[in-house]
Amino acid sequence: MQNKRDFEEHLRTIGTECCCDKVIPHNYHPFYATHFFDYVGRPFKLLEIGVGGEGREVGGASLKLWSEAFPLAEIYALDIYDKSVLDADKVKTFIVDQGDAVALNEFVEKHGPFDIIIDDGSHKRADQLTSLFTLISSVVPGGYYVLEDYFTSYWPVYDGSTLAKDFLDTPVRWLKQSIDIINRNNLLSEEVKNMLPDWGIEELHVYPGVAFLRKGLQAVRSEIPSSEFSENQIELDSLRYGEYKSLFFDYARDPLIGLTMLHEIKKKIEDEIASIESGVPSKGLRDPQN
Ligand SMILES: C[S@@+](CC[C@H](N)C(=O)[O-])C[C@H]1O[C@@H](n2cnc3c(N)ncnc32)[C@H](O)[C@@H]1O
Repeated sequence: MQNKRDFEEHLRTIGTECCCDKVIPHNYHPFYATHFFDYVGRPFKLLEIGVGGEGREVGGASLKLWSEAFPLAEIYALDIYDKSVLDADKVKTFIVDQGDAVALNEFVEKHGPFDIIIDDGSHKRADQLTSLFTLISSVVPGGYYVLEDYFTSYWPVYDGSTLAKDFLDTPVRWLKQSIDIINRNNLLSEEVKNMLPDWGIEELHVYPGVAFLRKGLQAVRSEIPSSEFSENQIELDSLRYGEYKSLFFDYARDPLIGLTMLHEIKKKIEDEIASIESGVPSKGLRDPQN
C-alpha cells in the first residue's frame, strides 16, 4: 500500500464487498484510513466491541474488513452473543458484556493491552462509558480508542438526549471533557485535576459520527512557567470564582444536579413574581421570619 489514498480506496472496496456499515452508509473509512494507515503491514493487536448481527445473524463484517486490511494483526472482538463461528487463525471472539466492568477487566488482564480499541457495541451511553473508563488504560502509548456512532448520545432510544445534551453524562460529554484531560497538566487546581481521569491521552480527533482518542507517546507537558505563577493564578481564580466552587464541583460530578438546581431557582423566582402580582405571599424565596 503506497499511500493513504490507496488505503482508503482499499478499505472502501473491502467494506463495500462485505457490507460493512463503516463504509455504507456511515462513510467512516476515510477517517480510519487517516489514522490506521501507519498500521498497514505491521503486526499489532486490535479489539472491537460489537461483532454485528446481534442474536439474529452471524455478522462479522468489520472482522472481515480488519482481517483483510491488516493480515498481520491479531483481532479480538466482544459481543453479548456467541460469535465463535467467526473465529479464525488471527480472529478471536468472546462473549463479554461491554457494560460489565468486572468482565472487561478480566478480559484485558488475559488478552490486553491493545494497539487499537473500537467501541461499536450497544451504543448505550452507560455501556459506552463503562467500556471507555475501563478499557482506555489497556491502550498502548501511541494507540487509539475509537468511539463509533457517538451521536447516539443525542438519541433517547440509546438513553441519550438532545434536549438534555448539556446535562447528561454521555460519550459526547466525555469527548468534550477530553480537552481538559489532554491539558491536565495545565490545570492549576489539584482538586480540579483530581476530578478528571488520567487517561494519558494527547490527541482528540472528532469527525461526524466517529471520534479517535490517541494515547500519548510522551509524558504530558505542563506550560505553567513557575510555581509562583501558579500560586498567583490560583489566588486570582479563587477571588473571581471561588464563591461558586461547590456549585462547579457538584456540576462536574453530576451535570443533572446543575439542571435540577437551575430548575428549582427558576421556579421559586416565578412563584415569587406570581405572588407579588396576586398579593398572596409565596413560600418561595421570602424569609419566613419576615
Ligand atoms: C453495530 S453492531 C456491530 C457491527 C460491527 N462492528 C461492524 O462494523 O460490522 C453492534 C453489535 O454489538 C453487540 N452488542 C450489543 N450490546 C452489547 C454489549 N452490551 N456488549 C457487547 N456487545 C454488544 C450486538 O449484539 C451487535 O452484534
